[in-house]
Amino acid sequence: MRTPIIAGNWKLNNTISEAVALTTELKGSVTDCTGVEIIVAPTFTALHAVSDVLKGSNVRLAAQDVYWEDSGAFTGEVSAPMLKDIGCDYVIIGHSERRQYFGETNESVNQKVKAALSHDLKPIICVGEQLEDREAGRTETIIEDHITGGIADLSDAELLSSVVAYEPVWAIGTGKTATPAQAQEVHSLIRKLLTDAYSDEVASQIRIQYGGSVKPENAAELMAQPDVDGALVGGASLQAESFAEIVKSTL
Ligand code: 13P
Repeated sequence: MRTPIIAGNWKLNNTISEAVALTTELKGSVTDCTGVEIIVAPTFTALHAVSDVLKGSNVRLAAQDVYWEDSGAFTGEVSAPMLKDIGCDYVIIGHSERRQYFGETNESVNQKVKAALSHDLKPIICVGEQLEDREAGRTETIIEDHITGGIADLSDAELLSSVVAYEPVWAIGTGKTATPAQAQEVHSLIRKLLTDAYSDEVASQIRIQYGGSVKPENAAELMAQPDVDGALVGGASLQAESFAEIVKSTL
């Protein structure tokens, strides 16, 4: 039985005071939610303050990116031990916005995933095709490329500490959600790829989130799909009420 996992990716939003207010409200609205893992991913600048607010709560902290070296002359970067030190349990890696705007590749994703795991940070590894890939019938090829490239050389235990997020790029921030059937089709493909690369036992335990215009109105039907184990939520995670509703749709 896979525990549902709902994460809010705040992207480039919220000052520290806004982040604290949102976290405080959210924490209060989900106190009774058990049997679901709840995560928020603020910007680096708000991590410390949000970490303080979350102490003793059932909401976990994630960062939106990490660098693969622990320390050194890498101006502007933040490392896995630093994120662990600030209270992160998770880190989002390979988000399509990082692939699109910041030159993230499967190789850098893989290096970051390994760095995160070696410091006991659980990676949320993002994969997903662009609209032109889908229209050209290349969805499977892209997903296979992201999965095999991003997840290369992990042990069974490392894979089991990871989460995969399927985020079709055409559904992100567009209001165009994948239909439950479209999401299920790719989620089951991902599980099959992991079965082939690892084993049925491992693949059946790993959690696969869907991301792309998830809202309170569509969350339950997406979550009802057999291979959809949660959601990576952008826009709707910026309001405590809508994010809490999405969390509750898993219960
Ligand atoms: P939206 O929910 O705003 O479409 O964003 C999805 C996303 O990119 C989460 O990482």
